[in-house]
Amino acid sequence: MTAETTTFPPGFLWGTATAAHQIEGGNVNNDWWAWEHQPGSGCAEPSGDACDSWLRWDEDVALVADLGLGTYRFSVEWSRIEPEDGEWSGAAVAHYRRLCEALLAHGIEPTVTFHHFTTPRWLADRGGWEDPGTADRFAAFAGRLAGELAGAMRRACTLNEPNIVGTMGWLLGMFPPGKQDRDLRLRVHDVMVDAHRKAVDAIRAAAPGVPVGLTLSMTERVALPGGEEKVARQNRSMEDMFLDATEGDDYIGVQTYSRMRIGPDGMAGPEPGVPVLDMGYEYWPQALEATLRRTWAYTGGRTPLWVTENGIGTADDSLRIRYVHDALSGVLRALADGVDVRGYTYWSLLDNFEWAFGYRPQFGLVAVDRATFEREPKESAAWFREVARSNALAPVPGT
Ligand code: GCO
Repeated sequence: MTAETTTFPPGFLWGTATAAHQIEGGNVNNDWWAWEHQPGSGCAEPSGDACDSWLRWDEDVALVADLGLGTYRFSVEWSRIEPEDGEWSGAAVAHYRRLCEALLAHGIEPTVTFHHFTTPRWLADRGGWEDPGTADRFAAFAGRLAGELAGAMRRACTLNEPNIVGTMGWLLGMFPPGKQDRDLRLRVHDVMVDAHRKAVDAIRAAAPGVPVGLTLSMTERVALPGGEEKVARQNRSMEDMFLDATEGDDYIGVQTYSRMRIGPDGMAGPEPGVPVLDMGYEYWPQALEATLRRTWAYTGGRTPLWVTENGIGTADDSLRIRYVHDALSGVLRALADGVDVRGYTYWSLLDNFEWAFGYRPQFGLVAVDRATFEREPKESAAWFREVARSNALAPVPGT
């Protein structure tokens, strides 16, 4: 493969992703719902009906099928499956099983995330991720569910971005439980690492042969003069300690959106001249290549990588195409240098609930009418379909 090739390796897996709380609607029984409604939490608006995907899941499956993608990554809502400690909802499990089976019927591999930011209220109320016992509870949940989805699930992800859950929830106070406590944040990170390891074992025991991994929020951290020490420290607590925990996993999920410039006093903010997105960070598609390379180097190439999220929140859909095009060019360069990247998952299928930001940032390949929930694929959807169909990078229209 030369650096100029536009073709991806045979079998490269194309996909798109969502998360339960961001699309299902009415997830009243988790810590996020409580947080959205708590005065002073800083949330732009509550999730409400989201995209009504709890009821319209078959429309979502049809959309992924129309895109011709190989996998759909979605998450299960723990608070629906285990609404109270020890109570198990067979109906909720059957819902997710039907979703998996409908995907399989279209030749789409279900990639199931067991925890994507939301935690049942009963568990959050008794300490949640601060309590070391939560690791065992999560593993028990994951093992039981994996057994019930075995045969219908093709890939498992234990925790989505534990580094974000811990940092936003216990250091920056922007996610539940809204604390700002360095020591607690470190403890939460340790509990989540423990939860991941135990869940890997539990899922493997219950669903043998299903690849299991962890997904991490990654950022290209650029050191400005004097910022080297801070970059190293942030990489350690945000990425490396979790990468250490992926030893023995089947894949590492890389999730990248942008970069951070860091000087001796910390975050230096966007570089003048670089566009800033609705999310407050720079338009920087090059970050994906940089994080893939760093992950590969840090782990010594011991575990295959998989882009489990990459995308852009923008109302300008042509900018979305350009962003994904440039990010994928970086993936091709990394592949050419021997970085083992198995697939690319665009975040997100739908315009959905972007946590504290509410519904303003539009990450979807498909627009969702906020009143009728009608779905309308964008131009970027057609462009991404062509990339997946040809397994090659398509030019940006008009260039
Ligand atoms: C994540 C988040 C997603 C966000 C996305 C865009 O895993 O970071 O899982 O839920 O919506 O990252 O900010």
